[in-house]
Amino acid sequence: MRKTVFCATTALVIGSCQQAEQPSDAKDFTEARVDSLLSQMTLEEKVGQLNMYNGTWDFTGPVPEQADAQEREDQIRSGGVSAMLNVLTPEAICAAQRMAVEQSRLGIPMLFGYDVIHGYKTMMPIPLGQASSWDPTVAERANRVAAAEATSEGLSLAFGPMVDITPDARWGRIMEGAGEDPFLAARMAEGWVKGFQGADLSERHSIAACAKHFAGYGFAEAGKEYNTTDMSDQTLLNVVLPPFHAAVDAGCAAIMNGFNDLNGVPVTADAYIQRTQLKEAWGFDGFVLSDFNSVPELVTHGYSADMPEAGKAAFLAGSDMEMESRLYERHLLDQVRSGEVSEELIDDAVRRVLRIKFRLGLFENPYKYCEAEGIEIMSEAHLQEARDLARQSMVLLKNEAATLPLQKDASIGVIGRLAQSKDVPLGNWRAQAVENSAVSLLEGIRVAAGSKVEFAEGYRISAGRRSFIFDMEWADPSEKGFGEAIQLARRSDVVVMALGEDCYQTGEGRSQTDVGLKGDQLELFHAVRAVNPNVVVVLMNGRPLAVPDIQQHASAILESWHAGSQAGHAIADILFGDHNPSGKLPVSFPHRTGQEPLYYNHKKTGRPVTNDFDKGLVFWAHYSDAPVEALYPFGYGLSYSRFIYSELEINDSILRSGDDLEVRVRLTNDSKVAGEEVIQLYIRDPYGSLTRPVKELKAFQKIHLEAGESQLVSFRLSEEDLAYHWSRERFEAEPGRFEVYVGGNSREVLQTAFTFR
Ligand code: BGC
Repeated sequence: MRKTVFCATTALVIGSCQQAEQPSDAKDFTEARVDSLLSQMTLEEKVGQLNMYNGTWDFTGPVPEQADAQEREDQIRSGGVSAMLNVLTPEAICAAQRMAVEQSRLGIPMLFGYDVIHGYKTMMPIPLGQASSWDPTVAERANRVAAAEATSEGLSLAFGPMVDITPDARWGRIMEGAGEDPFLAARMAEGWVKGFQGADLSERHSIAACAKHFAGYGFAEAGKEYNTTDMSDQTLLNVVLPPFHAAVDAGCAAIMNGFNDLNGVPVTADAYIQRTQLKEAWGFDGFVLSDFNSVPELVTHGYSADMPEAGKAAFLAGSDMEMESRLYERHLLDQVRSGEVSEELIDDAVRRVLRIKFRLGLFENPYKYCEAEGIEIMSEAHLQEARDLARQSMVLLKNEAATLPLQKDASIGVIGRLAQSKDVPLGNWRAQAVENSAVSLLEGIRVAAGSKVEFAEGYRISAGRRSFIFDMEWADPSEKGFGEAIQLARRSDVVVMALGEDCYQTGEGRSQTDVGLKGDQLELFHAVRAVNPNVVVVLMNGRPLAVPDIQQHASAILESWHAGSQAGHAIADILFGDHNPSGKLPVSFPHRTGQEPLYYNHKKTGRPVTNDFDKGLVFWAHYSDAPVEALYPFGYGLSYSRFIYSELEINDSILRSGDDLEVRVRLTNDSKVAGEEVIQLYIRDPYGSLTRPVKELKAFQKIHLEAGESQLVSFRLSEEDLAYHWSRERFEAEPGRFEVYVGGNSREVLQTAFTFR
């Protein structure tokens, strides 16, 4: 079949767009157009396609050297700019696009990129919260809304999803990803990419996704932002890369590298991960973008001698487009002419960029993102999505004596300044969210429960856009500002206390050495519970917190994360039982910060806690001043229903190569409330040529059960689930015994085993 293609008339020459018919194979057709356009380009124009330039609206890194407005415009007109970031008004985007399309020789449209991480104006829960749903469709729905809003304001490229594995709660960017597990993160990555890109990139409200940061940035030593990363090939290949691979398989248009030095080579200049893995082994045909200024930082790292060398190293390693520093623009031409860089490599990089522009449909209509398309930003429908997704992203951590759900006619004392904040729930990396536009917890509770709700600030917290302070000094130290809160607690049936973090305690550049509660929050908690033991704590935070006191003494705890525009309503839906929580933690919570990095899928060691060492001695893997285990393990989360696991069995005791096994378990809802449970399946290879983690998540399912209902749930396991990267060259499963664990979190599980031959 051949079909007619209509082209934009605005561009002077846009590849083979003039041709009226395309072969049925859209991929070949795009390639033909890319080749045709490439053949018309000068070397200068090709290098121009590898240049991403900052707008002046916002800086998401050190403020770079700026070209003046005239120079910038001239450069666009000369075809020297392929893409821009942080251009933040639709008018500015469209004016710049007009310059590129109508005034440059070839009229190649530009991309406009921005950090759309968990919403554009309608804020969804932070990604770590979304991952707590253990539901890729939550990720997809969240990014569908974000894509609709961002594209309706002119954007065509989202700098997301962030799919870094994040084993360390100290690292501020833990809020941006899906947590510590590669399997869960991979499933969320697929959802996020699909949500951004829709069924077809050329649709009006699809936005190109750019998974980041390739790779290993989440393993920054000691959780310190931008710190060195050092890991074995096995960790890189088995833990860090799988979510990126999943994003690529889901069709992700672009990949952004990172700032970190990985095993001695800054990733921006790492040819192994960018060329050998990403482009060759995985067949990625989109483009790789450097991170903000990460190319010149090769000099600062001590990897490149000077700026021309830095540009060359990044380019040769596979960083196709350069964000911000203009090193490609300044040096690549000479380097091609001198033979240091081949024109074939330039062509490959340019092809990758053009391919995405064609797939976005920008050559058919370069102004598609400029045309009003009837999308209402922060519409009722978007806010409803935000509320529903937020409810699914929350995790019930404790519910002693069925404290929750609360009665709507109880007298409720809401305590803690976070409860009043209409801004903190929006989280960091909030794109164009309108300040103070969230529904606060207090508002949510007032709407749901009505008149018998009172509020006291209790502790103070003041937040600026760039910094935060939990105020430590009170005007009257004897009162410590607690008086009003304590009186309110005394006269209330139940206290709902909001504790946690300001939204700017997490995000880029927000690492901490202490992941406990800041300021005098804990002191206030103890003062309040001394007069009213019925305290429900709502945590609002962007990272796992070390809160053992809260765990021990609160009656109930709900982890709400920074839950987005509808946070208050969503929390109230759970507190009053209008929604039954089903979230599970995608990260381990520590008792103490010193346990970090803390992750469930660690190695066993030669002296694990489970061995028969005499615990009176010191010679086993532990801390002397804190528990070994997590405060809350990976996968943990309660429900108002009570779920019971039983009858775990496998249909065969042997798995033969090429075959698969069925693992079955019975799940029973032994309560009077319908609910959803995330069933998790882990495996362990207990003995082999290389030591393997004590557990590895291999599958999960979210099951809805009516009150009293019971269901047999089935999983399939194949050889591929057992396989892992032994080295760069070897990916396979090792014959032997495998243990299988199934349960509602990574700690409380039923166990069985089989043999792989
Ligand atoms: C961040 C990226 C971000 C980029 C552009 C960098 O500082 O590391 O995640 O996409 O800035 O804003």
